[in-house]
Order: sequence, then C-alpha cells, then structure tokens
Amino acid sequence: MADHDDPYRLSGRYLDIMIAGWWDHHGAAVAEALRELPPGSGPVVDAGAGGGQGTRLIARTLPDVPVLAVEPSPVLVAVLLSRAADDPGLRARVTVDGDDLLAADLPDRIGGMVMANLIGHFSPHERDRLWEDLAPRLAPGAFVLLNLPRPTEPEPVERSRMSEVTVGGRTYVGWAGAEPAGPERLTWHMTYQTCEGDRVLSSDEVHYDWWTVSEAGLRAETAPHGLTVVPHGPAEADLYKIIRES
Ligand SMILES: C[S@@+](CC[C@H](N)C(=O)[O-])C[C@H]1O[C@@H](n2cnc3c(N)ncnc32)[C@H](O)[C@@H]1O
Repeated sequence: MADHDDPYRLSGRYLDIMIAGWWDHHGAAVAEALRELPPGSGPVVDAGAGGGQGTRLIARTLPDVPVLAVEPSPVLVAVLLSRAADDPGLRARVTVDGDDLLAADLPDRIGGMVMANLIGHFSPHERDRLWEDLAPRLAPGAFVLLNLPRPTEPEPVERSRMSEVTVGGRTYVGWAGAEPAGPERLTWHMTYQTCEGDRVLSSDEVHYDWWTVSEAGLRAETAPHGLTVVPHGPAEADLYKIIRES
C-alpha cells in the first residue's frame, strides 16, 4: 500500500526461507488450534501472511475453508502469490490481499484469524483499533491465534545467528539483536548475509521497531472488547487464542 512503510523492503527476500524454522517447530500447535475453529463460519484470515507459510498450513489443515491472506509488503506478496498459484489445492481457495491489515476490507464474518509473528508491528493504539474492528467479525466460537514473540518487555537481546539456510551453492545467514527503544518498544538490528564457502558475497543491514506485548498486557487491552485470552500449546510456542466471549 502507498502509505505502508514497509520494514521488509530489503529483508523480504530472506524472510520466507528464514521463518520456515518457526513453522517447523510450531506448525503442529498452530494446526491443532485451527482444527478447533467452528466449521462453516466464513474465511480464515492469515494476517501479515508474509510468504504464506501459515497460509499454506491453514489451507491444508482446513481443506474446505476459504483463506484470505493479507500482506502489505510487495516483495512478500510476490512470494505469497506464487506459493498460492503453484499449488492447485491453494489456488482455488486462497485470496491474496495486498493491504495493511488496518486498512483491509475484511469480511463481516470471519471463521478465525492467524496473526503469526506479527503483533509487534502494531502500536498500542493500533491494536486497540484492531480488537475493536475484529471482535464483532469473529463468528461464534472463532478466535484470533497469535504468538507473543520474546522478549515481551523491552530488554536487550544479544546479537546472535538466528537462521542459516543453504540453497544450492549459497548459504543465507541471518543475525539478530535488539535494544530497548522506549516503553514497550525495541529496535531490532538485523544482518542478512549471502555466503559462498567462506566468502560473504553481500550483506544487508536492516533496523526496525517492534512493540513488545506481554500476556498481561494482551489480556488488559482485549478485555474491554469482550475478548478473552487463552494460552495454547506448549509454553515455548508463546501462542494465544483471543476468543470472543459469547
Ligand atoms: C515476521 S513477518 C511474519 C510473516 C508470517 N506471518 C509468518 O509467520 O511466516 C511479519 C509480517 O507482517 C507483515 N506486516 C507488517 N505490518 C503489517 C500491517 N500493518 N498489516 C499487515 N501485515 C503487516 C509484514 O509485511 C510481514 O510479512
């Protein structure tokens, strides 16, 4: 979108291969939650879908459900659209919307939503708008499934290698570290290297802001909208269902 300030303009080319490990670890827990969604209740939305790792999981776990993948970063929309178009099982049911979630024209009734690795892109004020908008759209029994990535309070994160993926003769290495940038705010400092043997062929530096959200904070901000927070799956997945109270 024209007014979406895209933090993935440079890193989007690496995101999909590097976030695949998160889905390898936590995909089963996400799928287990998806199977609890009420059937026949409308499309399931993959919000901030990235390259579509989650979109594919939703479509494969719920084979009769339409999926709406909302993703504003043009480079990631390209990955997502190709992933959806390439797989006949996805192509018939996955709709890709290139909007910012805050501006997207969502269906009046949704059967659930996944917000994986996304929440820190929204300020407290934006999250309040989101809960206000989403609560009445959730079908009875439906929920938003999200994770609260650590740290959930602003604290330094020592720089470390977060990912290393080899494709053909090249290895793509991601480094990440963070520092507090104010109340409920972090700045992440990322480096994405393309290596061949011992040689670093290219290196991209990316810095972006991230809002921290704790479980207690999530409970406090969703409750006024008639939403209840329920932890889901193993603690290390940091997954939560945000359920509309009936
Ligand atoms: C860390 S990536 C996670 C991608 C995907 N959910 C996954 O887990 O594989 C965060 C994603 O959120 C998207 N995003 C950032 N701000 C957004 C917004 N305002 N509305 C919708 N998506 C947004 C980014 O473009 C990016 O694709």
